[in-house]
Order: sequence, then structure tokens, then C-alpha cells
Amino acid sequence: MKKFLIKGPNKAVKGVVNISGAKNSCLPLMAASILFKKKVTFKNIPFVKDVHTMKDLLISLGAKVEFSETKKMMTIINKKKHKLIVPYKLVSTMRAGVLTMGPLLARYPKQKIKVALGGGCALGVRDTNWHLSGFKSLGANNNLEKGYVNISSKKGLKGNKFKFPKVTVTGTSNLIMASVFIKGSHIIKNIAIEPEVLDLINFLNQSGADIKFIGKRSIKIKGVKELISGSHTIIGDRIEAFSYLCVGAITNGNIITNNINPSHLRSELSILKKIGYKIETDNKSIKITSGKTLKPVNIKTGPFPNFATDNMPLILAIMTTIVGKSQIEETIFSNRFMAAPELNRMGAKINIKKNKAIIIGQKKLYSADCISSDLRTTFSIILGAIAANGSSTISRVYHGLRGYYNLEGKLKKIGIKIISKN
Ligand code: EPU
Repeated sequence: MKKFLIKGPNKAVKGVVNISGAKNSCLPLMAASILFKKKVTFKNIPFVKDVHTMKDLLISLGAKVEFSETKKMMTIINKKKHKLIVPYKLVSTMRAGVLTMGPLLARYPKQKIKVALGGGCALGVRDTNWHLSGFKSLGANNNLEKGYVNISSKKGLKGNKFKFPKVTVTGTSNLIMASVFIKGSHIIKNIAIEPEVLDLINFLNQSGADIKFIGKRSIKIKGVKELISGSHTIIGDRIEAFSYLCVGAITNGNIITNNINPSHLRSELSILKKIGYKIETDNKSIKITSGKTLKPVNIKTGPFPNFATDNMPLILAIMTTIVGKSQIEETIFSNRFMAAPELNRMGAKINIKKNKAIIIGQKKLYSADCISSDLRTTFSIILGAIAANGSSTISRVYHGLRGYYNLEGKLKKIGIKIISKN
């Protein structure tokens, strides 16, 4: 199993990082291909592990999927009727597999769709109850059978009204995709407005869907007969961009991230500025430069446009090196501080109480052998190892490869002393 060895401390790292397409846009877009009878093309693909898993899932449903890594492109063709079973093997390795529920239901509303329930994951319990109540509002019932949920609607899907009890990202995308071909119109309230959800809405509208915003978190979807064409360039990955900006931050360096819309990181950039880093942006890139005096901060995660939960483990690593007391309140997942014990093994002082972390920043971190347990945790530990004195090893980095394209190559390019070992 692959390990990273990082020699620290890496100081004042300089360089340019080209940000890949957003994994969390790519996965729902790939699921949305199920809605099309014709060819769909996506560009700016991040060829990370989860994207390969979604490819396997679409192929298992009957689609033809072709990747061109050199062109960063993929085409998906659905000539055959899809199989209507989403196996446990694929949903258990990648939770985003549940995103096939909505489009399968839209295309085959009166047939029985069988989707494995994902259960928990490293971040805590991850339910799909709001996805299912959203489908119910369209007239689709469900029942649980041996770990699989069966969904179907006897009379076909009809527009109605639905309000999500709390903001859910994949729940929103799933219900939007389920609603594309309904009879009448569906109003959905309290939706997620993450840039990746808007990317999906843009793609569907460009392809002939009728989805309109009627409020900040409310949309009205008018059912259409079919989607006509499908070609789309995926937005840049805001979490990947923030990760590399944090490399600039923790080394007091100078990093430019390209191919990223700075407005997708508004809260995060304002926190970096508050700490004392210098941030410059244009419409496609963000530059971080070291600050003279760095101050501790308090943050609270939340649905977009608030500070993203996915970016929290990264800022946590930064806070461990900023002298003084910082605080994080995590409001999205029940178990998102998995990086804390690993960073503490490097000499960080993080104290977790329920959904809050108190961080007492230290002048120095020291190398340690660490184990990663989830995608963003991997990069958080990498940040610690970059700053730490001595050589650190990070095991189970396959978690990181689920969502970071060319992780080792991009870190090497900006001068991080990293090698991988099996
Ligand atoms: N929730 C429920 N019931 C539901 C749906 C959600 O209780 O039916 C709860 C969840 O358990 C969680 C909260 O609501 O506590 C928010 O979950 P959400 O549904 O928004 O998360 P998600 O859609 O499953 C996506 C990203 C995550 C990211 C979260 C939050 C994708 C493929 N995944 O997950 O990304 O952390 O939104 O922004 O888009 C990652 O990339 O590392 C990652 C975990």
C-alpha cells in the first residue's frame, strides 16, 4: 500500500499549481449522463480514483464510457436501456454512487430501481433519507429490502413542492436530476448552492432542462420531454485550490493557483487574510504571499457560501502553527476531526470537544509516522509533515488519491520534498 515520505521543514515554498476540474462536480455530472439518450462529453476531467469508480458504476449500468487523459475529456454513450441495480460494492467504496438514484428514477420512473444503501463512512453517519423524501414529493415510493432501497412510482413523476429540512449537496443534485422530465413543475426549497450544484444546473439548462431560481435557495423545475445535447467544461476544484494555498500558508511561501474562480473560496480567502496572509486574485487565479504577523482565528463551517467543511481539515493544520488560540466549530459532519490525533502526534495541541476544536498554535511541529483515514485528512497530515522538523511517513494515502489528481507530482513541482513508497 502506497506511503508518502515527506522531509520537512519545507520553508517559503514558491510555485504555480494548475488546479484540476472539481471532483464533486464531475461525479454528479457523470451521473447526469444517465438522463441522455445521446452522447455526452465532459472536459477538464480530474482523473482521480472516485471518477474511475463512477466510470465502473456507469459501465455496470450499461453505459459506454471513454476517457482521454491527455485531453482531460470523457464521453459517455447510453445506447442500451440501463440496468436498474446499483451494487453495494460500488456505493460502499464511493458514496457518490447514490447520485445515480435521481437520474435513473427520471428515466425509468415506473420501473423498480434498486440502489444499495451506503451506510456510514469515515465522516460519520451519512443518510439518504432527505433524498428519498424528495423523491416521495414527486410521487416515488421506496422500501428497504436486504440493504437495498427500491424506488418506483406507479403513476409516473409529478411536480409538487418540497423543502429540504437541512441543506444537502448530493440530495439537492439528486432531486434536481429526478425532476428534469416530470409532469408539471416542481418547487424545491432550501437547496444547496455549492458551486458544484450550480455547475450541474448550468449543464442541465444548456442541454434543454428548465430550471430557474425563484429565491436564493429555491428553484422551480419545469419538466421537459428530453435533453438535447450534452457537452460541458467542469469548473476548477475549490478544495484542491485551497489545499495548495495552504501549502503556501504553512511554509510562509508564495503559491499561485490557476484555473480557479476566487468567488468559490470567498469565506476561505477572507479567513486567510484575517490570519495575516496576503491574497491577490484575478478571475481565474489566486495568489497567496506570506504575512508578517500571523494571528489565530475562529471559524465555523457551513453550507456554501460559508467556510466549506472539506476545507476545514486544511485550515486546522495551518492553525496548529499559528501561535495563540484558534477555534473551529464543525456544523456539517459528526466526525470530521480525524486529522487532529495525527497532527497532535507531530506536536500540535488540538483539543476536541464534541463538534469544536480548540487549537493552541505551536512554534514548531516534529516529524511522525502517521496514518490517513479519509480524503481531506490526507492533505491535512501532508501539511503538518511539510511544516514539521524531520522526515514523516503518511500511510494509506490511497484515501487522498480518491480526490487529488497527481498529488505527488503537483507537490514535487512546487518543491516539496516528497517521495512515495509501496
Ligand atoms: N444528511 C442527512 N440526510 C440526507 C442527506 C444528508 O442526514 O439525506 C446529512 C449528512 O449526514 C451530513 C449533512 O447532512 O451530516 C450534509 O451532507 P450532504 O448531503 O451535504 O453531503 P454529501 O452531499 O453527501 C457532499 C460532498 C462532500 C462534502 C459535503 C458537504 C460530493 C460527492 N460530496 O457530500 O465531499 O463534504 O457535500 O459539503 O459532492 C469530499 O469531497 O471529501 C467530500 C466528503
